[in-house]
Amino acid sequence: MDSPIWPAQLDHFRIDAPDPAALADFYCDAIGYEAIDLPGGALLLQGAGRRLVFGKGEAHGRPYVAYRLASQQQLADVRRYLESQGVPILPNPSPVFSDDAVAVRDPDGWVTVYGIGRADLPSLKAANGRPPLSLPGRLQHFVVATNNLPRMIDFYESALGFRPSDYVLMDSADRSSKHVAFWRTDSEHHSFAAFGASSVRHDHHAYETTGWMDIRDWADHFANLEVRIWWGPGRHGAGNNLFFMVEDPLGDKIEISAEIETMPRDMAPRWWPMDGRAVNLWGAGWARD
Ligand SMILES: [Fe+2]
Repeated sequence: MDSPIWPAQLDHFRIDAPDPAALADFYCDAIGYEAIDLPGGALLLQGAGRRLVFGKGEAHGRPYVAYRLASQQQLADVRRYLESQGVPILPNPSPVFSDDAVAVRDPDGWVTVYGIGRADLPSLKAANGRPPLSLPGRLQHFVVATNNLPRMIDFYESALGFRPSDYVLMDSADRSSKHVAFWRTDSEHHSFAAFGASSVRHDHHAYETTGWMDIRDWADHFANLEVRIWWGPGRHGAGNNLFFMVEDPLGDKIEISAEIETMPRDMAPRWWPMDGRAVNLWGAGWARD
C-alpha cells in the first residue's frame, strides 16, 4: 500500500526562543510577516503563502514541523496508515492545525505533524500592503480654497505667468463667473489650483503614481492603517486623472493620483459647468463650502 501521506505540503513550523516576541520582530521586519497572539501564548506569523509559529522555549529546540494535508479523508487515511506501521501517534502540538492532526517523533527527536489548517484563525491584512517608502508617489500638485478667486487668477496668470488649463464656471453662459481654476507651470495639467470657497485655506495636495495598480496598493496600505478613503476612487474631468483622497489628522485632504494629462504651453483653457463632472466623472463630487 502506498503511503497516503502523499500529497502533503509544508505548512508551518515552530521556532522556540527565550524572547519569542523579539525574534518575531526580526522575522516581521526582515522576511515580511505579520504577528498575532494565539491563545496559549504562542505567536502566529503570517505572510502571503507563509506562516510560522513562535513560542517561548530554549533556542535551537526541536518543537515541530507541520505538513498540510488535502482533506479530512486523507488525514483519516494517514492516521490508519501510521497505526498500521506501528508508529506511535502523539497529540497535535500545533495551534494552527485542527485538534485531530496527527504527530509523530523521528529518531532524532523532531516532531512532524500532519493535519488540516484551522478555519477560525484571523486572516492576514490586505496582501498588497507595502512599506509606504516603496510606494511610488511624486509630489505633483498643491491646491488652495479662496474667497478671492478673481484676484488669485489675475496674480497667477498675469503677474506670474501660470498657464490656465481648466476653469469651472458658476454660470456656463458667463465666462466671468469662474469658480475654480487649474494652472500648469510645466506640461502637467496642474501644479496649482484654486477653488472658490467661503475662506482662504489649504485644500489638498497630491501624489502622482505610475498607474491604477499603484492606486490599489496605496488604498491597501491605507486600509492596513485603518485610514479610510474619504473621496473616490474616481476620475477628475479637469486633468483626467484617476484619484482617491484620504484625510490627514488635521482634516486636510491628501490625494493619490495617476494618469494626469499633459498639455503644451500654448494650449487654451477648457471650460466646465458646475455639474460636478470637472471634479469627478465617475461619481459624487466634492463641493467646497
Ligand atoms: Fe487634486
